[in-house]
Amino acid sequence: MAERPYIVGNWKMNGTRAMLPEARAIDRASQRVMKVEVALAPPYTLIHAVHREVEQIGVGAQDCHPGEDGAHTGDISANMVADAGAKFVILGHSERRQDHGEDSALLSAKLDAALNAGIRAILCCGETLTTRESGNAEAFVLGQLREILPDIDNAADSVTVAYEPIWAIGTGRTAETGDIEAMHGSIRRLLNDTYGEETGSQIRILYGGSVKPDNARDILELENVDGALVGGASLTAESFLGIVLAAA
Ligand code: G3P
Repeated sequence: MAERPYIVGNWKMNGTRAMLPEARAIDRASQRVMKVEVALAPPYTLIHAVHREVEQIGVGAQDCHPGEDGAHTGDISANMVADAGAKFVILGHSERRQDHGEDSALLSAKLDAALNAGIRAILCCGETLTTRESGNAEAFVLGQLREILPDIDNAADSVTVAYEPIWAIGTGRTAETGDIEAMHGSIRRLLNDTYGEETGSQIRILYGGSVKPDNARDILELENVDGALVGGASLTAESFLGIVLAAA
């Protein structure tokens, strides 16, 4: 079983330097909740500034280019986000799959770039409401993961999985705890089958999709939920720390 709950804030396309006090407040409070691993993924423009502000929490990126540094105007490589202080990168978020047409081949290339740059990856998966209502959610999500889980030995040190039902993202509607546990249990079995039970049991599986302070405890108590990937509620120290404390 994963050693510590992992609570990650995904600021998405939000955040200017005016939000640095929020990052500082999250960091200071997290120093008193050592049994929970806390991290933030600000936009590229704030990675270095947040990294310089914090002492305890991790800092990550929300994406990276699959290639090496070079002639890719406007893009940012894994090496560059690592240099800015990122220790992980979120890959395959449904908003990027949708907005940028990201497919498994591209995500696998981005994952290779991240691992080569020495940073961890949070691999996102999740189904649409149509897929859920048609009863095909598990097959769809496991299919997404089968296409991008890396063939490496140290997977528990390099990979975290985030299950985010698309219809629960930003809607205020979380998945039912029974559905969350069923999906996380299926993902755990896939990880065990892929990497062996010892490693598979150590790979953290986060839930994301309208996690808030008032629902976090019920979600985080579920057997195969090792943490949360939080969007809107991570934008203020007060709400994000409410989720961190629920994990403690
Ligand atoms: O990556 C986390 C995000 O997709 C969840 O967003 O606002 O529903 O917590 P939110």
